[in-house]
Amino acid sequence: MAARIILITALLALASLVHWHSIRVLSKTFASLTTTQGLFVVHAAVSVNGFACKNAKDVTVDDFFLAGLDKAASTANELGANITRQRGTTPGPNTLGVAMSRIDFAPFGLNPPHSHPRSSEILHVAEGTLYAGFVTSNTAQGNLLFAKKLKKGDAFVFPKGLMHFQFNLGDTEAVAFATFGSQSPGLVTTANALFGSKPPIPDYILAKAVQLSKTTVTWLQEQQWLDIAQEYGQRSNA
Ligand SMILES: *[C@@H]1O[C@H](CO)[C@@H](O)[C@H](O)[C@H]1NC(C)=O
Repeated sequence: MAARIILITALLALASLVHWHSIRVLSKTFASLTTTQGLFVVHAAVSVNGFACKNAKDVTVDDFFLAGLDKAASTANELGANITRQRGTTPGPNTLGVAMSRIDFAPFGLNPPHSHPRSSEILHVAEGTLYAGFVTSNTAQGNLLFAKKLKKGDAFVFPKGLMHFQFNLGDTEAVAFATFGSQSPGLVTTANALFGSKPPIPDYILAKAVQLSKTTVTWLQEQQWLDIAQEYGQRSNA
């Protein structure tokens, strides 16, 4: 028993040091040491690919259950969109390679250009009409934009790691559901990463990269770069 605790502690310590890919392998090892399902507990002190393992005997059906995706989030912000993320309160999917979000759009609201470094995404339009697209990587043809008008009932796939966006073309509210092939897809909002990093990327670097004056870059860096993605459950628990 003591040896097992020492082994688990060592794995957790190591996990905080190594790269995500290694963490994934490690977490599987860790999961197999404690449970056959690899379930994870929310709010553990040490993060192993999300959450520390949950003992199999404590697992319940609610670890796999999500509720509240029928609730619209407030889109009263400058982008006119709000992302409700499922990750964070439901331990079950943590190592099962799945996650989902609800995205609400005000009329002409925008889910701004962003990418998910660890997952492809399938987006299903439940209400409204969206213009959605992604930009391919630096191929010989250049960065191609693949974009399309999506109506209610349509679905569209965004390949892993590629920058993409959705814009509500209609003057009514729109709703979409995004499903990911990772329990931890990651989110990099392009403008926020470029202009909202802490500390800021030196202005002479960005000025050169985006071919703008340092004054314009500084102005951009002074703007509020909103993160419209929130953890699912903060609302439903509130
Ligand atoms: C998203 O919606 C929630 C719930 O309505 C709200 O509390 C939150 O402030 C909204 N976020 C933004 C960025 O508008």
